[in-house]
Amino acid sequence: MNSLVLGIESSCDETAVALVKNAAQVLSSEVSSQMDLHKRYGGVVPEVASRLHLESLPFLVEEALKKANVTFDELTGIAVTAAPGLIGALLVGFSAAKALAFRLGVPLANVHHIEAHLYAAQLDAPPVVFPALGLVVSGGHTELYHMADWGQYKLLASTRDDAAGEAFDKVAKLMGLGYPGGPLIEKMAKLSSETTQTFSKARMKDKTLDFSFSGVKTAVSLELQKNPPKNEAEQNKLAAKFQNTVLEEILSRVEVLLDEGQFKSLVMGGGVACNQALRDALYKETEPRDIALRVPPPQYCSDNAAMIAGLGAFQISKGKIADLSSTALPRASFY
Ligand code: KG4
Ligand code: ZN
Repeated sequence: MNSLVLGIESSCDETAVALVKNAAQVLSSEVSSQMDLHKRYGGVVPEVASRLHLESLPFLVEEALKKANVTFDELTGIAVTAAPGLIGALLVGFSAAKALAFRLGVPLANVHHIEAHLYAAQLDAPPVVFPALGLVVSGGHTELYHMADWGQYKLLASTRDDAAGEAFDKVAKLMGLGYPGGPLIEKMAKLSSETTQTFSKARMKDKTLDFSFSGVKTAVSLELQKNPPKNEAEQNKLAAKFQNTVLEEILSRVEVLLDEGQFKSLVMGGGVACNQALRDALYKETEPRDIALRVPPPQYCSDNAAMIAGLGAFQISKGKIADLSSTALPRASFY
């Protein structure tokens, strides 16, 4: 049966609305970033984020419908980010989604933001072949999952301290670069010829695959104190050395798991998945092993509502429909 689902995302500093057909085909994907406003505070201010979601959501809904050439009457479902995120921000999108579902008499899907980052791999793309290794690298999460199918996951590793994106943001702040740090650091690293050097990392005593990114942040901080970069080339080199270290932390885990030989695909999602050096490095890992690398285009890696609408449509098709008395949660797991 054909489906046409409107998705709403408001978990952090992006307000987004999208329309997705048959859980895969993106008809429109509108994103309004609050980045410029939060930039002046060096990070996201929750209260400001909620107010801005409230202001921009109605216009984004209108714009998304217009761009997709769709009317409210044609919608078969509403999907919304229900967790995790800033609770005030989540509630704005959640209330709007409930009101729409109630008024239109269509099912509501409560979508987990992190699961949706993985589902983004299937937007405007062929179905993922399972079992897949799922890698989420975002501002708040760095995790590896065994994915037997959509909806069937086992957590294999997570971060013991900072998330990968958080490390990019914190290091960018230390280097006086601005927010968000990921794209800024990537740009500088690209200008440097330093492609292999890394900071040494503290090895974990147990044999865990868990990540740790606080050590590299400290290493950059010490380097800035002891040997502050004297020119642009040295700044770029420091950015490259940091990025190389983060990539190595991720790749070393991925290698161990891919060597097990059970995965047919590697699915990556989240804002850090925009990083071209990371994408290239993962391609080098998967290609010789004959494993499909499934990474969405950058617009579906960073926060968007197409991934919410897509996964929501899938959930509705499986009968996973949310009660209108359900609520959003700042933290929740999906596995
Ligand atoms: O998934 P996302 O848009 O929001 C969360 O759900 O957290 O991820 C945002 C994170 C930020 O920490 C940002 O610095 C990072 O993704 N990021 C990048 C790049 N683009 C965004 N990190 C490294 N390289 C990039 N090109
Ligand atoms: Zn996200």
